[in-house]
Amino acid sequence: MFDLLRQPGFFGTHATLGADLSQLMAALFTGLFIIGWFQAKRHRGHGHHWLMLGGMVAMVGFFTAYYLFRQLGVLAFEGKEGFGGSQTLYDYVFIPVLTIHIILVIIGLVMAVYMIVLGFRSQQFISGARVLSETLLQTSWKTVSLIFTGLTSIVLLLFGTRVLSAGFSKRKLEVYLGFLMLVAIVFVVEMGIQRIWPDGGRRHRALGRFTMIVYCILFLTGTFTYAMLYILYPGKIG
Ligand code: HEM
Repeated sequence: MFDLLRQPGFFGTHATLGADLSQLMAALFTGLFIIGWFQAKRHRGHGHHWLMLGGMVAMVGFFTAYYLFRQLGVLAFEGKEGFGGSQTLYDYVFIPVLTIHIILVIIGLVMAVYMIVLGFRSQQFISGARVLSETLLQTSWKTVSLIFTGLTSIVLLLFGTRVLSAGFSKRKLEVYLGFLMLVAIVFVVEMGIQRIWPDGGRRHRALGRFTMIVYCILFLTGTFTYAMLYILYPGKIG
């Protein structure tokens, strides 16, 4: 599988099959979310719900699997060999754009989980239509600690059984801890943000727009990185 991803890609650039697949999927998912956003603007709650929920689950699943396979090999971590442009371009354009991209990936991941949970919590059904409920939606620290303790116990149990059956590995521990950290960040975000927008419906609209903007910039910075690496300044690593 790893070797297959390193074969030449299908866009006819200097990219590998893996990089092309990732770029194609990014375009598809971004398109899907924009359609989902317009569905919400037109008050088509059901269409919006299915597009966002399905799209987010598929996107997080695809990119997690892809990056775990590729061992995250974003070229910034491997040194400069992958980039064929000048040092100035590398230091002042390539690295800053890639850094913004990676920060947005982390924010996007947190927001994906957060928005889906908020969607379910802030919706209501009125004569069969899925609409947002413009009422107070608050979570107490007690509920948060209860859910987090429950989840941590399940994750530790899963980790324990995996270690018993297949042995301990640092990578495995990182994946499990990464998941718990993501959940913890989502909770902290929620506790802070619910003070700013106590109303669930308003919170969903405001943060939904923010999330959509993050996804659009994510796609633009990703495409920019792709173009620099595989079209404009290809280096030794294909
Ligand atoms: C990452 C996921 C999501 C994002 C980024 C998102 C974003 C948004 C945005 C921006 C709006 C307001 C549209 C506008 O007026 O500009 C909205 C409305 C809405 N969202 Fe979401 N949403 C997400 C997931 C969900 C989910 C999972 C549900 C249901 C479980 C949901 C239910 C709704 C409903 C019912 C509306 C109101 C539509 C209307 O105005 O009639 N959303 N969402």
